[in-house]
Amino acid sequence: MAQVVRPPRRLQGTVLPPGDKSICHRAAILAAIAQGASQVENFQRGLDSLATLRCLRLLGVKWWWQGDSTLLIEGRGLKGLQEPTQVLDCRNSGTTMRLLAGLLAGQPFLSVLTGDKSLRRRPMGRVVEPLRRMGAQVWARGNGTQAPIAIWGGQLRGIEYRLPVASAQVKSALLLAGLYAQGETTVWEPAPSRDHTERLLEEMGAAIWRFEGGVKVAPVPSLRPLRMRVPGDFSSAAYFLVAALIHPDAQVRVEGVGINPTRTGLLDVFRQMGAQIQVDNVREWAQEPVADITATTSSLQGVEVGGSLIPRLVDEVPLLAVAACFAHGKTVIRDAQELRMKESDRLRAMARELRRLGAQVEELPDGLIIEGGKPLRGAVLDTHGDHRLAMALAVAGLACQGDSVIRNPRVADVSYPNFWRDLNGLSS
Ligand code: S3P
Repeated sequence: MAQVVRPPRRLQGTVLPPGDKSICHRAAILAAIAQGASQVENFQRGLDSLATLRCLRLLGVKWWWQGDSTLLIEGRGLKGLQEPTQVLDCRNSGTTMRLLAGLLAGQPFLSVLTGDKSLRRRPMGRVVEPLRRMGAQVWARGNGTQAPIAIWGGQLRGIEYRLPVASAQVKSALLLAGLYAQGETTVWEPAPSRDHTERLLEEMGAAIWRFEGGVKVAPVPSLRPLRMRVPGDFSSAAYFLVAALIHPDAQVRVEGVGINPTRTGLLDVFRQMGAQIQVDNVREWAQEPVADITATTSSLQGVEVGGSLIPRLVDEVPLLAVAACFAHGKTVIRDAQELRMKESDRLRAMARELRRLGAQVEELPDGLIIEGGKPLRGAVLDTHGDHRLAMALAVAGLACQGDSVIRNPRVADVSYPNFWRDLNGLSS
């Protein structure tokens, strides 16, 4: 299957992006071990979040949909999960696999985690190694580095652990394991990564302390259930923001979007690029800041991006590369080697696909150099089986000369099942 992207004369309208994927995974997992029933509104039905829900069901957790997007979850308490009778299939979702690995390290039974071809290629040693140090028995393919992963958990001890890379998934896995460990578990990060797990644990009454560069948890007898509304996903909203900035005649508003500062590095970069972006109506849902954001056609300038900004926009780098193609001058993205370990090698894949459109892109070991301002022509583009590539390339297609064809567009369903509908709704 393929999707034609036709540059519209004008791009205009309002979008309500789906509930934040990172928060949905965490809310479901934490609600599963809470004492009592949780209600989570605006829970997204992307394939990744559904993978987490299916795994939880295999661990004995009951959940139901109420209407389209409210999820009810019956918590089993910290000690109430059941040994799964089947392998837990995390499909394409790294967050499902890494967070569940942490949770299962605390359970006195055997679990086996696997995933699709892309997920089975991704690095898992980064969770296996610290969980072993905490006392879990963990086996994984490739000398402990790749899924499938088998975990025999229980009897954990708290550790102090310095993350070799800034990874919210690994941090969250260790915090989940820390709920079951004897003593305190401290995680130090080289740069701040998304802190949704910490915010939810605070909301649920966990023993958690946050400090400059790190976070510490200790076990508690129980966690309070959640009653919350998930903010819209900034990473999903970002596609429409960039579409509006690079299109010659556009204004797009995204409403109810999470603006947690660990996620909005792209807004900082937009400011440096001279983008016309307005953030208003700031409010709070479940310990998370939320706002409406309006983007208008802008004359963008190239930028240099690297260092501790990267974890704050890690999923938006493909999109930033698209914006850079339409900016005046050179954009340099560095320190982004983690992008090679995502659902695809996003540096290589973006360089390849943007070149098909006529962009001037150089691939670095840890980033990209993009010489902006070259006129781009529509082309046939490959998504490399990666949801973020499908959506970023669609955005590029909206501002090219001529039509583009996106192959395998349904891969967007991983994080944004209504992406194509919402995108088409803005064109005129
Ligand atoms: C995520 C963390 C990031 C991000 C991913 C979701 C999360 O991965 O790229 O899409 O929900 O914790 P890393 O933690 O591996 O950087």
